[in-house]
Amino acid sequence: PVLVVDFGAQYAQLIARRVREANVYSEVVPHTMPVAEMLAKDPAAVVLSGGPSSVYEEGAPTLDAALLEAGVPVFGICYGFQSMVKALGGTVAHTGLREYGATMASVSDTSSTLFNGQTADQSVWMSHGDSVSEAPAGMRVTASTPGAPVAAFEDDERKLYGVQWHPEVIHSTFGQRVLENFLLRGAGLEPTWTASNVVEDLVGAIREQVGDAHVLCALSGGVDSSVAAALVQKAVGDQLTCVFVDHGLLRAGEAEQVEQEFVAATGVDLVVVDAREQFLTALAGVSDPEEKRKIIGREFIRVFEQAARDVVGSADAEGHPVEFLVQGTLYPDVVESGGGTGAANIKSHHNVGGLPEDLQFKLVEPLRTLFKDEVRQVGLELGVPEGIVWRQPFPGPGLGIRIVGDVTAERLEILRAADQIAREELTAAGLDRDIWQCPVVLLADVRSVGVQGDGRTYGHPIVLRPVSSEDAMTADWTRLPYDVLARISGRITNEVREVNRVVLDVTSKPPGTIEWE
Ligand code: XMP
Repeated sequence: PVLVVDFGAQYAQLIARRVREANVYSEVVPHTMPVAEMLAKDPAAVVLSGGPSSVYEEGAPTLDAALLEAGVPVFGICYGFQSMVKALGGTVAHTGLREYGATMASVSDTSSTLFNGQTADQSVWMSHGDSVSEAPAGMRVTASTPGAPVAAFEDDERKLYGVQWHPEVIHSTFGQRVLENFLLRGAGLEPTWTASNVVEDLVGAIREQVGDAHVLCALSGGVDSSVAAALVQKAVGDQLTCVFVDHGLLRAGEAEQVEQEFVAATGVDLVVVDAREQFLTALAGVSDPEEKRKIIGREFIRVFEQAARDVVGSADAEGHPVEFLVQGTLYPDVVESGGGTGAANIKSHHNVGGLPEDLQFKLVEPLRTLFKDEVRQVGLELGVPEGIVWRQPFPGPGLGIRIVGDVTAERLEILRAADQIAREELTAAGLDRDIWQCPVVLLADVRSVGVQGDGRTYGHPIVLRPVSSEDAMTADWTRLPYDVLARISGRITNEVREVNRVVLDVTSKPPGTIEWE
């Protein structure tokens, strides 16, 4: 792999993704990992990330010079660049010239390894207080900026490279090109990390892990569980049984999408449990959000556990035990829980977290090396329906936490109808990939006066909550075009009886969460 050494930057995962966008496999490792351990991973190249510190600060992360002497191509970014300078005997100084944001860099050699094929003047994204004033011996300086006389250097002999700016952010015009030049020209790597190769590798790994055993998967209809199931299906076919719990809190068409389209496209063996009544009964009269979440989580586990027992009892005609459970864990979760390799780190996913002890499964986590966008590519490669591959995030508790008030069959029907209209119009306007998600919320305990037809109405408001986000940790409300809002509002108030008002949530996160409950 290409190792991305994390110096505490918010950018390390982004760098790893950019490396993969160049079709080269990458892994994030902490800067605290000893060099011997990094080298044991047989890295094809190393990228040193940025970081918040100043290299001369007490306690600042240091770069072990041994990493630069191992014959592995190295590319330093921002703090990583400065740490190379420090390790190799150049000078990093407080020049007093800080640069934050877009800056013009001046490249002195557009035929160099990093800058081949680019323009001499290019916009780059900077975020630094210290600057390199003197390059280490043997380094050729190939770019400068107003605040950084040494803004890039290259040494083709030792295969050491670096830039002061952040090539991984899109504001650096040639950022991806610089990174690709390092990987493909500098390090001489082949761009072989493609969706079809990935599928082949993962399928092989699943076969090896699972052997003859039987595998169980809880299918939610979301991207991750669907792609994970499709991969396992491709790997071991009949040895997989998927369980889909229809809790009645899904949006219009979603259960059918899983039960029909997904099954037709992938051929998985699917057990559908219709638990709609059970959930409605359990939720009757409950309006407290946390209480609702607890009930939905608890009922889910009950239903899934029973289904799992049935499958375990009957799944495999040849007498193979049900040994494995599929989890849709993604690479960011793996990085964040600190474990690049080694034993599976079981996240307490509400779907399966509460399985009883006598149902002990080993985990199959076919997506644990992948980022979300790669999961989508793999899904497309496997023929998973596009409606599932491009699905926006949808909470496990579903529409249950989008009805403010208690949940009834009638209220679910109202919300489902309104939600369907909003989704249709957003899709028709081509906005699906511009918004992160758009919860549609029914204020079931609120009524307001309206006039519809010739009469006075006393109906419920529907809230539209379109948000833009990178990772759902923070979000901003999306500035949807007025004409799209007008169409949604017009259709909902005309087509959904009981709704006489549509309002727009214009709150960012924080302070508001994305969901209302
Ligand atoms: P909040 O409302 O906390 O939501 O800003 C952040 C993201 O998480 C989703 N969400 C959930 N997903 N189970 C899930 O699988 C849940 O209980 C849950 N609650 C919120 C939400 O849709 C948003 O994408």
